[in-house]
Amino acid sequence: MNKILVTGASGQIGSELVPALRAKYSDENVIAGWRRKPLTDEVAVGGPSVHIDVTNRAEVEKVVKSIKPDYIYHLSSILSASAELNRQAAYAVNFEGVFNVLEAAVANKTARVVIPSSIGAFGPETPRIAPNDTIQKPTGLYGISKVFGELMGNYYYSATGVDVRGVRLPGIISWKVEPAAGTTDYAVAIFYGAILECRYTCYLGPDTRLPMMYMPDAVNSLIGVAEADLGDSRHRADFNVNAVSFTPSELAAVIKKRMPEFEMTYEVDPLRQAIADSWPDALDDSVAREEWGWSPQFELATMVEDMFTNLTKKLKG
Ligand code: SER
Repeated sequence: MNKILVTGASGQIGSELVPALRAKYSDENVIAGWRRKPLTDEVAVGGPSVHIDVTNRAEVEKVVKSIKPDYIYHLSSILSASAELNRQAAYAVNFEGVFNVLEAAVANKTARVVIPSSIGAFGPETPRIAPNDTIQKPTGLYGISKVFGELMGNYYYSATGVDVRGVRLPGIISWKVEPAAGTTDYAVAIFYGAILECRYTCYLGPDTRLPMMYMPDAVNSLIGVAEADLGDSRHRADFNVNAVSFTPSELAAVIKKRMPEFEMTYEVDPLRQAIADSWPDALDDSVAREEWGWSPQFELATMVEDMFTNLTKKLKG
């Protein structure tokens, strides 16, 4: 492995994937691509970085040509709630950005491109526990863009030989960098509320069950699928990965056990509630388990404990 380029490296996942890749492949080989939001100090001082606006075809070509990465992790994406509020930006980043990166990969002989998909790639007609291969039909623009990424990935693999891979990530819970206007963000914001104010007002109803995953597992799933020996598997950019599933009231109950004075109230946001209601409760990830040995490490209780410890340190020193 010579070089790895990560787009969207200042985002919630990039801020943790880049240090993990640098620990594995050495600092100078992992280039953190960013656009508007500054990189975290850890990522900025830990190794090389480059400006890359994935919506700008010429800039993507130039950056990929100069770095000549073996692997690209293409993380730039506008999340679900944001996408509904700004379709123009979501189209440019989530559709054109994917196309620009894939074309640059073909032109520069990039071996592998990892494009994360999401639970958003499913819709109301998907069974509540989503099989890997099932009816998808998402109803939101973000989800449609994720199905586009999956299909484009599988198509580019067979049409061009660039090995495009991806996992359908659940909502990601983490403490280093907050997510940017997704639907599952409450499961991060609740910890900030608990630690800073002992209370949180949730924008999803108490019984809204969604698949979730702690960041270390998400990072492992992305590196795991990138490095897996997939042989001639027909799955590439579309692997379900599952970890935990819970409702806001179940998460609040676990937090309350640790912090009895914690109080949760609800003020439902119709936009995000509708998106959440269209997504499955859990993902059947048996294909990823069988084909490349995926398995998560964190359960709800261990995740809550780790979030409390690290976020309290971050917020209160
Ligand atoms: N966490 C994402 C969102 O809420 C789902 O992939 O948009």
